[in-house]
Amino acid sequence: MKVLVIGSGGREHALVWKIAQSPLVEKIYCAPGNPGIGRIAENIDIKVDDLPRLLEFARRENIGLTVVGPELPLSLGVVDLFEEYGLTIFGARRNAAVIEASKAFAKDLMKKYHVPTAAYEVFTEVEPALAFIDRLGTPIVVKADGLAAGKGVIIAQTRGEAVTAVTEMLTGNAFGAAGARVVIEEFLRGEEASFLAFTDGKNIVPLASAQDHKAVFDGDQGPNTGGMGAYSPAPVVTPAIHEKTMTEVMRRTVDGMAAEGRPYRGVLYAGLMIDGGNIKTLEFNARFGDPECQPLLMRMKSDIVPILLAVAKGDISGMEIEWFEKAAVCVVMAAQGYPGEYRKGDEIAGLEEAAKMEDLSVFHAGTALKGDKFVTSGGRVLGVTAMGNTVKEAIERAYRGVSAITWCGVHYRKDIGKKALGKQ
Ligand code: AMP
Ligand code: GLY
Repeated sequence: MKVLVIGSGGREHALVWKIAQSPLVEKIYCAPGNPGIGRIAENIDIKVDDLPRLLEFARRENIGLTVVGPELPLSLGVVDLFEEYGLTIFGARRNAAVIEASKAFAKDLMKKYHVPTAAYEVFTEVEPALAFIDRLGTPIVVKADGLAAGKGVIIAQTRGEAVTAVTEMLTGNAFGAAGARVVIEEFLRGEEASFLAFTDGKNIVPLASAQDHKAVFDGDQGPNTGGMGAYSPAPVVTPAIHEKTMTEVMRRTVDGMAAEGRPYRGVLYAGLMIDGGNIKTLEFNARFGDPECQPLLMRMKSDIVPILLAVAKGDISGMEIEWFEKAAVCVVMAAQGYPGEYRKGDEIAGLEEAAKMEDLSVFHAGTALKGDKFVTSGGRVLGVTAMGNTVKEAIERAYRGVSAITWCGVHYRKDIGKKALGKQ
């Protein structure tokens, strides 16, 4: 079978890497892909939002399975379009992907179906928003409604910061249409985890637990990024938390979406805040998390292709996923300046040395080829992902890979996985 993966980040490199191990697959294409992906798949120069060309390519090449990585094509309706033409595609339809594309939709859904989440209200006008800020007090969280690449969330420590955030989102143009509505919510304390599950709209099969590291600097300091590293399993997701999440978050959400006439098919990602035995849902994503996807797929023992096919065809009943009883850790290596303006075009050294290391993969996210040399071309450049018998061993292995690689201005967190140590 021929497979097409849509996207160009570390998540897509990990997906292509895992799909390539399936005996069912004869050829993989990736649109648009990246130079790392290009070593195992054929990159096709089509952008993720160019739906007509993606469709034309998939039909012409007789693609048996298309896998969508990022949220943008999902929220543009790539799944609906491919299905209209009888193609098999893994991902949420447009009316289900709204669970990520609109935070206001997600919050209203959670309220209606009793999914635990922070107290909130949605605003389109500044005055009532300010009154709500005064009522809730600080710290308080202000979120742009629409897709904002992980940058539309402001944790305001003071009233002044909250007022500035709300005013800028509702009246400025920094967030464009994404900021036309804001969600203001209660600030939650605790430890975050990423809970992902496959669903066909009815049955739910969870993936292994994972934890992301959103802040750019060690100790969770500095602005939020798309994710600076991740590991799996996450001990904060105890068996009791797992059960609670399955019944109170996943089951209620999947049933709620079906009841709304928006059956959810694909991978559903809940961002959780865990505080003792309590869970609250911070957000939903309609896709695999990145970088979480990298350690998760490294730990997946089962062939992923039959799973993706079953989800895409709408029946995962009886499906089971096997996992390696090991830990995996991904350390993101980023360009200087990320998540703000960042350097580009720096030559990356050490990739060959890292490639020789055992139980380690270097997934490319923002790289380009200049002649025969790899250079940086994105904010998150590489995801160095390693597996070990324990989190400690996986951390050591991943950082051994990281220390083999360098470029001018490279930045990475030194504490990925630290929260899991001592909890195992
Ligand atoms: P979101 O895109 O809604 O998940 O928000 C991005 C990040 O902001 C989360 O991963 C948390 O680190 C933080 N965050 C979001 N909502 C809250 C909240 N209500 N309380 C505390 N932190 C939050
Ligand atoms: N790593 C968080 C996300 O993919 O949204």
